[in-house]
Amino acid sequence: MLTDKKLRIAVMVSGGGTNLQALIDSMKSGVIHSGEITLVISNKADAYALTRAENAGIKAVAVTRKEQGDNFEKKIIETLEENNIDLVVLAGFMCILSQDFTDRFKNRIINIHPSLIPSFCGEGFYGLRVHKAALEKGVKVTGATVHFVNEIPDGGEIIMQKAVEVMEGDTPETLSTRVLQNAEWIILPRATQLVCEKILRNEI
Ligand code: GRF
Repeated sequence: MLTDKKLRIAVMVSGGGTNLQALIDSMKSGVIHSGEITLVISNKADAYALTRAENAGIKAVAVTRKEQGDNFEKKIIETLEENNIDLVVLAGFMCILSQDFTDRFKNRIINIHPSLIPSFCGEGFYGLRVHKAALEKGVKVTGATVHFVNEIPDGGEIIMQKAVEVMEGDTPETLSTRVLQNAEWIILPRATQLVCEKILRNEI
């Protein structure tokens, strides 16, 4: 029996926040109904994702290495705990989290990666670099993956994937847009709702 309890979700971002926007829109549409985004944390003070959060009435904070130095992760953990966060969603978050961090939030951090893991993932594979590698390899199908976050970059258990066709003449930019629109913005909200349900059922 699912309670009507809503988990408190924090979304961590670094850039434009189009995946965050998809999550916000999915809360409104009801795709996400077992959790509520109550906090957005960015490691970049000028990330437009923070503006998207503020426009949606969601608490938005910047936690930067520049300000925090060696206390960077400690400050993030403190902020998550002060806000009683149940689930962390990495949405275009560009920092690698330490094993201390990921162990502390085992099965409570998920990430969206713009390829079909195990292809084109791991150290150094982020943003347009992922799509550049896919085009150089000549794959005909790529896509996006939502996975649990552990100490291995893009190494955690896969939760959901969606495939996207590579088109003749694609550039990293055109492919990135198609993967965002046809995969990332669809599976991240669905996977977030699925994980909320599993947590509420004490399955993870
Ligand atoms: C994009 O490269 C996306 O594929 C990846 O993070 C980057 C920025 O996404 N997941 P966003 O627009 O900030 O959500």
